[in-house]
Amino acid sequence: MLQARDHARVVSDRVWRPCRGAVALRTPTSRHLGSVSTQDSLTTVAECTFGGNTDLRSDLTYRPSVRPGLEQGRCGSMPDRPALIWLSRRGEGSKLAGGSAVASICPKLPRVGHDGRMRLLILGGTWFLGRALGEAAFEQGWSVTTFNRGVSAFDLPGVQVIRGDREQPGDWSRLAEHGPWDAVIDTIGYVPSQVLAGAKALEPVMGRYVFLSSVNVYTGWPNEPLNDVSPVFDCPPDADADFGADLGYAGQYGALKAGCERAVVETIGTDRATVLRPGVILGPNEYVGRLTWWLARAERGGHLLAPGPPERPIQPIDVRDVARFAMRCATGRQNGSFNLTAPVGHATFADLVSACIDTTGADTEPVWVDPSWLVERGVQQWTELPLWRTHSGVWNVDSSRATEEGLRCRPLATTVADTWSWMTAGGAAVTGSGEASRAADHGLATLRELEILRAWTMRA
Ligand SMILES: NC(=O)c1ccc[n+]([C@@H]2O[C@H](COP(=O)([O-])OP(=O)(O)OC[C@H]3O[C@@H](n4cnc5c(N)ncnc54)[C@H](OP(=O)(O)O)[C@@H]3O)[C@@H](O)[C@H]2O)c1
Repeated sequence: MLQARDHARVVSDRVWRPCRGAVALRTPTSRHLGSVSTQDSLTTVAECTFGGNTDLRSDLTYRPSVRPGLEQGRCGSMPDRPALIWLSRRGEGSKLAGGSAVASICPKLPRVGHDGRMRLLILGGTWFLGRALGEAAFEQGWSVTTFNRGVSAFDLPGVQVIRGDREQPGDWSRLAEHGPWDAVIDTIGYVPSQVLAGAKALEPVMGRYVFLSSVNVYTGWPNEPLNDVSPVFDCPPDADADFGADLGYAGQYGALKAGCERAVVETIGTDRATVLRPGVILGPNEYVGRLTWWLARAERGGHLLAPGPPERPIQPIDVRDVARFAMRCATGRQNGSFNLTAPVGHATFADLVSACIDTTGADTEPVWVDPSWLVERGVQQWTELPLWRTHSGVWNVDSSRATEEGLRCRPLATTVADTWSWMTAGGAAVTGSGEASRAADHGLATLRELEILRAWTMRA
């Protein structure tokens, strides 16, 4: 049983140092927020402001002088915000983590783990964007937890893996027991009722929530130019998977994503939630089969059917640029929703085709074919010829709000080259059911391409 004297005292100085029976936390200004005691543990939490510099990573180095048996941690190191600091003593056999006590005292505040690193929970984390997020977070020295079933891809080395199924409500509460986290980035939300269950369970043990949505939430996509305030589908935040079945695949996907957005924002609050709406994402580990198909086709050589006009603007975004921006939102205060596409005018279809040909070094020659003629021949846009779509709004998405908040997009040629490097190094996209089965829908069969090209040449 711990004694009262084991309580950490909060005093107004700047260093950690041991004192009789406990430790003292000294900072220029600090406010005691509360203590939590259980039969065999005590945790004290203080809110601390470090003069003009609230970045704890540079401002305060934890002293190894903390007494054995005492844990220490800091929670929240956002610019201009006070940081939270906790001290905890655990008795033998105690399972209480200091961070959990902090969560109960200050459930609304962002926090980092007891080792001072930013703690990120990625819902998903093993296929494409989630993988890029994990890699980028490691580069930043963050501590990363992933939540997935562990059935379709391998885990990133070094992550804390929590197995669970988004369809099982009990798995969300089990996941929450492993918190707290500074931020959650959700790449696996497709059904509002599931996202709602997850957000409710995680809300008390997290700082910020970044939800990966899609430009498909806009009712005007792909027919109209879009900005961040264009109208979105109306979908309840507790809708089930069958909502919007009459809207077709893309419409239902968009409507459900709109419901997921509501589930997140209404549960977490507008001050802690960010919604990201990417357009097409490309890059290493892509499983949809868009750029990977164009690269494989370019490598095959010969006459390549290219849907005109070559100067058609396109706005795919690199998966690593999405990841970086999501991480920015996880640590900042970018509330609200952001379109995530490369800027209009970033690249053209000709840039894509020539980058694929140049990168593969194959003897391939594009034959630019009139798009209306292709439509008349029944060539399926978006799938048979990936990334090709004639609708006027498809590549007319305004992402300037994200650009103002720091989104930076690398050149398309870099995305193409890096994806090819990944493919030639033996990289294979995840395959399976659901989302992971989409590659089978993409690409034009070789014989069909030959027939179309022959008909195009003979048309006169
Ligand atoms: N690709 C695009 O062009 C594009 C465009 C716009 C928006 N988006 C959005 O961006 C996100 C892309 O994410 P991603 O697929 O690349 O993410 P990811 O995190 O890399 O992969 C998906 C993860 O979901 C897990 N998962 C699948 N079913 C699950 C279940 N029932 N319970 C728990 N985990 C499950 C998978 O692991 P297990 O299978 O092992 O469970 C995997 O780890 C999506 O939200 C998508 O809507 C994508």
